[in-house]
Formats: sequence, structure tokens, C-alpha cells
Amino acid sequence: MNQVTLQRLMQCPLCDYRQAGQPLSPPRCPEHPSRVMVAKRWLINAPKDYLLGAKLGDKYHLIHPLGQGQFGRVYHALQDGAAGVQRSVAVKILREDRREMYALFLDEVKVISQLQSPYIAQYLDSDYDTEHGIIYLVMELIEGRSLAELMDDDGELDPERALNLVAQLLIALEEAHAARVVHRDLKPANIMVSDDGRVEQLKVLDFGVSRPNADQPREQTQGLLPGTPAYMAPELFQGYTGEVTPQMDLFAVGVILHQLITGNFPYQVEDDAENLISYYKLYSQRPKAPRISTLDRRLGQVIQRALSLDPKRRFQSARELLIALAPWSTIASRHIGDQLIELPPEPKRPRRFTLLVAAALLGGVIGLGAHALQLFLPHLTGEELTQQSPEPPTVSAQQP
Ligand SMILES: Nc1ncnc2c1ncn2[C@@H]1O[C@H](COP(=O)(O)OP(=O)(O)O)[C@@H](O)[C@H]1O
Ligand SMILES: [Mg+2]
Repeated sequence: MNQVTLQRLMQCPLCDYRQAGQPLSPPRCPEHPSRVMVAKRWLINAPKDYLLGAKLGDKYHLIHPLGQGQFGRVYHALQDGAAGVQRSVAVKILREDRREMYALFLDEVKVISQLQSPYIAQYLDSDYDTEHGIIYLVMELIEGRSLAELMDDDGELDPERALNLVAQLLIALEEAHAARVVHRDLKPANIMVSDDGRVEQLKVLDFGVSRPNADQPREQTQGLLPGTPAYMAPELFQGYTGEVTPQMDLFAVGVILHQLITGNFPYQVEDDAENLISYYKLYSQRPKAPRISTLDRRLGQVIQRALSLDPKRRFQSARELLIALAPWSTIASRHIGDQLIELPPEPKRPRRFTLLVAAALLGGVIGLGAHALQLFLPHLTGEELTQQSPEPPTVSAQQP
């Protein structure tokens, strides 16, 4: 059923007055006409939210909460226009309990207002609301699911679907990085996907801790390292110099791609921001190589390279990764146009005949060696021979 015609039990956020109504053209309470009435279930779900039903900046009526993150809360709002026109938008506010993040919120407003990509939530407006003492950011309303919800609902995605989503993420990053903006908190909860039944469109949200990479990151003065451990590049923990690089975002893209296709994280990390030191140890000393057995081998290699622990071995730009993924993604190949697509070289497999010859040669060498030992070392007992044999080779931890 269309949401517009949906009748709900509506309630005034300031008193118990109730009546049936449509959330997208909410009725007013006769006692409190300054507030719109909101669906009663939101008042039950968010009983202490004094902003529900309020009007910010004299034109944005907050009708229900959409989500909450580390320092923001986002609402579905109706924007008043001339001639009684109203449209749906998303309004993000800085949470009252996170006022110390004010400077970061201002950065987010600055950054998102500069970016135009169709794959980034579009900036519409921002202002201060003096009545509620609140700063807010208005964006296009994205109707869909977060990538985290999509993964919960749909499980592992087939590679083509995953790669088309990741290609859109990379196109968004290409623009952000060109504007010298590094997102720094890419993860499925900060990405939304809407589906019109034909195509899935991805939008990047939450530039809340993003930094222009030329700038000194704020956390150096605040003693805080932003991000979500499982998606953070290892160089953030290894003698971190404070430099913010696009390769950090590209590492997160690698983790997301691995997660979309396999359902698992590529590395075992403790997702515990309090314990970054043990996380760093885990990362630097026992890296677990991604296992992607069901994939086209060359695609597996591309993903492994995107996940390299050494940033120099990773793809150096979003475009470089788009080019590498183009053979498997129509969106990536359309975006890069006629740019040369170079497939990573197929690793050479030894042929059966070569293997047989090698085995025969090896057998000959061992035979000769044993004969020579018998001739030249007759005084050694069998026990001594065993003691002198070399250690079996150790298998070094696989690095992507
Ligand atoms: N433009 C939008 N349209 C629809 N939902 C949104 C929009 N922006 C944010 N959300 C929802 O709100 C949640 C929190 O937003 P986010 O910007 O990530 O806040 P925070 O900075 O606090 O993490 C998101 O996970 C998403 O569910
Ligand atoms: Mg967020």
C-alpha cells in the first residue's frame, strides 16, 4: 500500500490528543498547533525525543526518526514550501549529548555541500534553529535500506550485484578524493541502497569524520581516532603520523566488498574501539588472508590487493580499482568508458607433463644424494643422519 494513503493513529507530542491521520500530511493538535502530530508508534519508540513533531528553521517538520549514529540523529521531515507545498527531506541534527562534536558537524556540512555525486546523499540546506538551540543539516531523503540491513536480509550477494554496488561507492569516492576529502568511516551502516525494481542505487552518507587530506586531523589534538575498527586501515595503528590518505578509504572498500561476497570479514579483528592496541597487534602480527574460494581467481586477486595491509600495495586511487573491477561490473566499465581494461595476469599453472618431469628429476637427485651419503659418510649412524636433516620448512603467514 502506498505510504501516502496510509492511515495511522497519530498523537500530539505535547499531550495525549490522538486521532487518525496520514504521516505525510499530519494533522495538528487543537491545543498545540505549533507541532505536527506524529504516528503514535514513534512516540512509544522514542518517548524522550522532544524534537518529534517540532518545526526546525520555521519550515522542517520532523515527523519520524530515521536513524541515529555516533553523534547525529536523522529524521524524516516535511519541508514547507509556497502555496502549501510540502516535500519529504532528511534532517540530521547534532545529538544534544554530543555537543563536543560541534566542529566535526560543521565540517560535515562543509564537505557534503561541496559534493555533487549522484552516489552521495545530496546536500539541500543547513542552519541553526534558535528556538531549540540546534544545528541541522538537510539532505535528500533516501528511501531504502542501509547496506548493513541489506546484508542482514539478503545474505551473501552474487559477485555481479556486489560489484555494481561497490562500483557506485568507488565513483562517489573518486569525486570526494578529487575534492581532497577522505570519508574515514566507510562501513555498511553509512551506505544506503534504494531499489526502484530496476536498478539498485547506492548513496554514501555520513561525512561526519571526513577530513580534507591536506588538513591536520582534528583528533590529533583531541586524542581520538575516529572510525570503526574492522574497516580501518592498519596504517592507522602502526606509528600513525596523522596523515589522512585516500588509500584508507580504499581499504574499507576492500573490506566491504569481501563482506558482501563472502558474508565474512577478511581479517579477524576485535571490533572494540576501547582496545585499539590489541586490535593493532592482532592486525600486524597475525593477518588472516582473505579466503574467497568460489570466485573467479583473478577477481579474488583484485580483492586481495585491495585488502593489502601495506598501503603501497593497495590500489592507489578509486579509479584504479574501478578499472580493475570493470571486467566484472557493467557500472564500473561504463564509468571508465574506453579506458584500457587490463586484466590481472592469470597465474601460470604448471602443466601435468612439467610436473612429471620435475618429479622424475627430483627423484633422481634424491637417489644420487643418498648414494653419495652412503659412499662418503659411512661412519654416520642412522640416528645421527636423522639429527642432521634440515628442519621442515615453516609456512609463512599468507599476506594478501
Ligand atoms: N539522507 C538520508 N535518508 C535516509 N536515511 C538517512 C539519511 N541520512 C541518514 N539516514 C539514516 O540515519 C542513520 C544515521 O545517519 P548518519 O549520518 O550515519 O549519522 P551518524 O553521523 O550519527 O552516524 C543512517 O544509518 C541511516 O539509517
Ligand atoms: Mg553513521
